Amino acid sequence: MNDTPASISDKIRQQFDFGPYPRVPIDKSPKEDANLLFIHNLVTPYYLQNQKVINTEGKTILDAGCGTGYKSLVLAEANPGATIVGVDLSAESVNLAKARLQHHGFENAQFHVVSIEDLPSLGMEFDYINCDEVLYLFPNPADGLSALKSVLKPKGIIRSNLHSAWQRASYFRAQNVFQVMGLFDNNPEELEITLVQDIMKALKPGVDLKTRTWNPAMEKEDAQESILMNFLFQGDRGFKVPEMFAAMREAGLEFVSMVNWRHWDIFSLFADPDDLPVFLALSLPEASPEEQLTLFELLHPVHRLLDFWCTLPSQEDAFPIADWDVEDWQKAQVHLHPQLRTPKAQAAFIESLQEQKPLDLTTLLKAPASSSYFVNSSVLSLLLMLIDGPQPFQTLVEHWLLIHPKSLIGLEPMTTDEAAAELMKLLSRMEVFLYVLIEVH
Ligand SMILES: C[S@@+](CC[C@H](N)C(=O)[O-])C[C@H]1O[C@@H](n2cnc3c(N)ncnc32)[C@H](O)[C@@H]1O
Repeated sequence: MNDTPASISDKIRQQFDFGPYPRVPIDKSPKEDANLLFIHNLVTPYYLQNQKVINTEGKTILDAGCGTGYKSLVLAEANPGATIVGVDLSAESVNLAKARLQHHGFENAQFHVVSIEDLPSLGMEFDYINCDEVLYLFPNPADGLSALKSVLKPKGIIRSNLHSAWQRASYFRAQNVFQVMGLFDNNPEELEITLVQDIMKALKPGVDLKTRTWNPAMEKEDAQESILMNFLFQGDRGFKVPEMFAAMREAGLEFVSMVNWRHWDIFSLFADPDDLPVFLALSLPEASPEEQLTLFELLHPVHRLLDFWCTLPSQEDAFPIADWDVEDWQKAQVHLHPQLRTPKAQAAFIESLQEQKPLDLTTLLKAPASSSYFVNSSVLSLLLMLIDGPQPFQTLVEHWLLIHPKSLIGLEPMTTDEAAAELMKLLSRMEVFLYVLIEVH
């Protein structure tokens, strides 16, 4: 069969009509998964891009290539008051997604059997587009991004991802093996899955491909999805960081951030980031995000996905809080990240305060931090205030003065300026992890 665009989408449709993805049970709820909600909450990328806290009420969110709708459900849970629209090539998948959102009581959701290429036919525009585990199936990912861009609102944000060529190299080799054996000639189904299991099982331990790709769990009956998505995935391809940037550029989009950006920090790869060889100490901080991420991946290709947020080129210059002066801070409004404004977090803050124990915030929200993040009672008392809603920086300074009337060194009375200076430092450190969001009002 010739791989024309129509035949490629036929293959993909057939593949996902046979094996709708993901096979997450309909009653599973992501409500308690703060990390998953954190990355699917429009507040997170919108703040990274604009340093403003967006209200999700009334926003329109697209799940492009929604599959069976588990991520659509996550989007609905993470963005209260937003309308969720899901599209997919596969009618089977769309039916399952519809049923899933209905099951969880979301009325403000709609699903359509529409391809990403045909999105304009919906006649809608979106504040946020999630296109997860789909883009690498496009012969040219820039075409996929351009199609998404055509239905994006001016300040809208796209989240998408590509498979990493480096991290997934062994699976691409395995796919090649089964192509050579003819298992991709028709849509791979039960027979081909069993053949993969038999062939991989039959290989001696120590054969390189088996060591790198196989584990005993894949010999079980419920491993179908994993085998289809790794060994028999039609159209699956790998990309490198420069190709991800090239696709954004070709589509006229601008990089915002990696989705798990704390885990792509080039400095974290060095034993002592404060004592780098001089050549690197001078050049690395000056390198562009594209250069830093490219180097990170060459040194340490551990991420299966090149998972990124992008947006339309913006006219506005960023004004990071590192560049703020006291007057900017005096006009600031401080928010707790919505994924920390939960009854569970409130109970944890109160318990730690009552027990006089520091609290590791990563036990509540791990996604943005790469290691533990402890806060003491004074900070917890501030966070508790923020559970009720955002507070002006000045109000937090007054609160800080009440709990710290004297300087802890020398016990001199604390001045308002000293309290403000302490809080600026403390909040800036927490803002790096988006535990608090700080906007100029
Ligand atoms: C690997 S699944 C990912 C599903 C879902 N996004 C998730 O991450 O759970 C890929 C989905 O994208 C759909 N898809 C692939 N190409 C598409 C296209 N051009 N337009 C619409 N859907 C597409 C497939 O039918 C399939 O359901």
